[in-house]
Amino acid sequence: MRLILLGPPGAGKGTQAQRLTQSHGLVQLSTGDMLRAAVKAGTAIGMKAKAIMDQGGLVSDDIVVGIIAERIDQPDCRKGFILDGFPRTTKQAEALDKMLSERKLKLDAVIEMKVDDKVLVSRITGRFTCAKCGAGYHDSFQPTKQPGVCDRCGSTEFSRRADDNAETVVPRLTAYHGQTAPLLPYYEGKGILRQVDGMAEINEVTRQIDEVLKSI
Ligand code: AP5
Ligand code: MG
Repeated sequence: MRLILLGPPGAGKGTQAQRLTQSHGLVQLSTGDMLRAAVKAGTAIGMKAKAIMDQGGLVSDDIVVGIIAERIDQPDCRKGFILDGFPRTTKQAEALDKMLSERKLKLDAVIEMKVDDKVLVSRITGRFTCAKCGAGYHDSFQPTKQPGVCDRCGSTEFSRRADDNAETVVPRLTAYHGQTAPLLPYYEGKGILRQVDGMAEINEVTRQIDEVLKSI
């Protein structure tokens, strides 16, 4: 199965993609995570991407298309994958269509996570991640069961993203509405767009995604 999770920053794409990797054995392909890894490793791509990400803009199409094209050829992607944060522009969507058709693969569904802008700031500013295994949490909406200890791996080290602040949320939302939201009619035209209520509680969103997956 090949899916896209589409939604604004803080919609819950990463949260739900992590759950799908465990429940359905799909690989999560998050261009945001891959770019952050490149920034941390200090690669040429990371150095180009850092300033843009810190300002909440979009990294160039060529860079992210190149990253994804390379990644989907790796053996672990054969069983299927979830694209989280890609594509984000019409040019990226067209490049994805081309790379899938060249490999005789198709997209099964594009799942739009609908969330009002007004809740996104609190979702983003309260987010934190286990520094060891990458499990995602939120100060209020998804705290660790035991304070300061990762539920999944027991680590006590956590990190917060450099772009998770109230100032950067505004350009990130502007980029979403201006450049990414036009992909909704693009995929609707292909008959593969589905919607879930991203305002619902996390388990309920997972349930709605499961319903979508059963229907395809
Ligand atoms: P990226 O890492 O993709 O960030 P984003 O799209 O801004 O999305 P987020 O990761 O912020 O949100 P999410 O939807 O994953 O939410 P999460 O599940 O964590 O991209 C970062 C940057 O990289 C971009 O700004 C850009 O510069 C660059 N980039 C990446 N891809 C690119 C591309 N293709 N082209 C160009 N540039 C690119 O949830 C958020 C919080 O809310 C968590 O704390 C979670 O616990 C909580 N939460 C989740 N669901 C719920 C719920 N239902 N109710 C309550 N709380 C919830
Ligand atoms: Mg994410």
